[in-house]
Amino acid sequence: MALLERTTDSLPSTWYYDPAQYARELEAVWYRDWVPVARSEDLPKVGDFVAEKIGDQSLFVTRDRDGRPRAFHNTCRHRGSTLCIERRGHFASGRIVCPYHAWTYALTGELVATPRMELPADFRREYHPLYEAPVESWGGFLFVNLGERPPPLADFLGEEAKNVERWPLASLVSVRRETNLLACNWKVFWENYSECYHCPGVHPELCRIMPLYREGLLSYGDRRASSQDEAADDSRLHDAPGVVTWTLDGQSHLPAIEGPDAGDRALGVVFASFTASLFVVAHPDYVRSVRILPRGPEAIELTVDWLLPPGVADRYPEELENMYSMGRLLIAQDGRVCELNQQGLRSRRHRQGVLMPQEHGLLEFHDWLRSRLGERA
Ligand code: FES
Ligand SMILES: [Fe+2]
Repeated sequence: MALLERTTDSLPSTWYYDPAQYARELEAVWYRDWVPVARSEDLPKVGDFVAEKIGDQSLFVTRDRDGRPRAFHNTCRHRGSTLCIERRGHFASGRIVCPYHAWTYALTGELVATPRMELPADFRREYHPLYEAPVESWGGFLFVNLGERPPPLADFLGEEAKNVERWPLASLVSVRRETNLLACNWKVFWENYSECYHCPGVHPELCRIMPLYREGLLSYGDRRASSQDEAADDSRLHDAPGVVTWTLDGQSHLPAIEGPDAGDRALGVVFASFTASLFVVAHPDYVRSVRILPRGPEAIELTVDWLLPPGVADRYPEELENMYSMGRLLIAQDGRVCELNQQGLRSRRHRQGVLMPQEHGLLEFHDWLRSRLGERA
């Protein structure tokens, strides 16, 4: 989309804190879309599990005896107790045992035991398996879908997945994971991610290595649109000589990942964005992923992973802090302004914001949301 030519309204401020609006968005977006809840390497063995919440829906992903990931609602078929209490763990002996009356399920979800009770004559175990949810993987991320008729994962990933197709994402491993709770609505975080208008003031360190961001622009297409200069696009290769990756000094001492081509390496960064639960920031030497989950009308949880080819972290332990530093700083800087944004949206006078030309990504996001909610786009 081109730069916005007219002053454009943002969303109504109440949408960022009203519980009823939050509930509408859970139904229309989060309970219908594919949502990444784990990395495949989080489940190295049969019976390992990761429990997660999407909105107020608790579920867990485990690995069955065939090695397949399986996702289930975290609810017992007897009287509905929670099954997994920990966020990560291992089902001993490959059995999922309810902590209440000990109904026992196989890793495929079948009910295999109902201890200490004579069963009614008409009771059929096979009618009471765990509630399963589809799980699919892409790039090493395990996505689940709580919808009734989920579209293929590929539809959700769309063209964005192609941006990073040269990176061997599925074979990379997370060498560091950090989680952050932020006191902001999920849309506040996604809007902030969708523009670089804030970059000059909020991210001085990133702007040192990404000159385009000093202009408050997110893409070279935006600069071309603002300068009317067709040649501007070519400047990308000469913008920041010597900058090879996103670290505080723009330098890397890690081996290049096999796959990215010369163009990818020249850019130093490639994004793939999956509204609004995941973005992947791919560099020539490492990849950073950020997963977003709503935790209430005014709360989100971020999960940031730093991904490297297997073995690299062991060979270059002294380089890892350098690799984490920029991503950590960005999350802290963005987290601060997102929380400030959230607080200010509570003003009784502030009914609605306005979008500036370089915030066209927000308008796209708002149109997307409105159409998901069944409103005019
Ligand atoms: S609620 Fe799970 S066994 Fe009773
Ligand atoms: Fe930012």
